[in-house]
Amino acid sequence: MKFCVLMGSPRKQGNTAALLAPFLEECAVLGVEAEVIWLYDKKIAPCLGCKVCQDCMDGPGCVQEDDFQEIFQSMVNCDALIFATPIYSWYCTAPMKALLDRAIYAGKKNYGKQKGPALLGCQRAAAIVTCGYPPEEGAGLWEEGLKRFCRHGSLEYLGILCRQDRGTVPFMNRDREQAARDFAQALHMTIRLEDL
Ligand SMILES: Cc1cc2nc3c(=O)[nH]c(=O)nc-3n(C[C@H](O)[C@H](O)[C@H](O)COP(=O)(O)O)c2cc1C
Repeated sequence: MKFCVLMGSPRKQGNTAALLAPFLEECAVLGVEAEVIWLYDKKIAPCLGCKVCQDCMDGPGCVQEDDFQEIFQSMVNCDALIFATPIYSWYCTAPMKALLDRAIYAGKKNYGKQKGPALLGCQRAAAIVTCGYPPEEGAGLWEEGLKRFCRHGSLEYLGILCRQDRGTVPFMNRDREQAARDFAQALHMTIRLEDL
């Protein structure tokens, strides 16, 4: 089993990285391969809305030459996408938003001369999120956006792990570490049962 972790935090030692760490450790215990892609280290230009991708049926077909093509391949070649991000202005961070914009059109050919395949249609998605407000208020809009992304792109949405940055206390504690491990186990079990 393979997870493609799309990491949207700019902070390598930040809260999202801290919540992700036990999740990745548990993946290793479970024998799940996890490819972590730090999106701030990549070049992902914003979508131009040219819709050239809509007439390319056998690949993303994006006209922009940057790191998107390579990331898209990783997104296709895994069992689940893990969107790890802090909340910035009620949504994921900018590089992840650029990736979502590029992937939703490149991955679903609805608007060209003819309708085509959903290239991410066999995919599953889950989110690992940190935010300043309590989870529902801080991450609710992002979770809803991700659910709609999944619905439109024909991906299966598997759930979210979200923890609040209270600022005054250390971000990680034993409960949060355990929750991240439990989340990895739950995703692993769900996918195993689905693939039986
Ligand atoms: C520019 C910026 C915007 C933010 N916007 C929000 C927000 O809209 N809602 C929220 O709940 N938290 C917001 N936060 C708080 C972060 O989501 C939170 O501190 C998070 O844990 C940071 O994760 P990191 O350490 O991985 O960067 C914002 C933080 C920054 C730096």
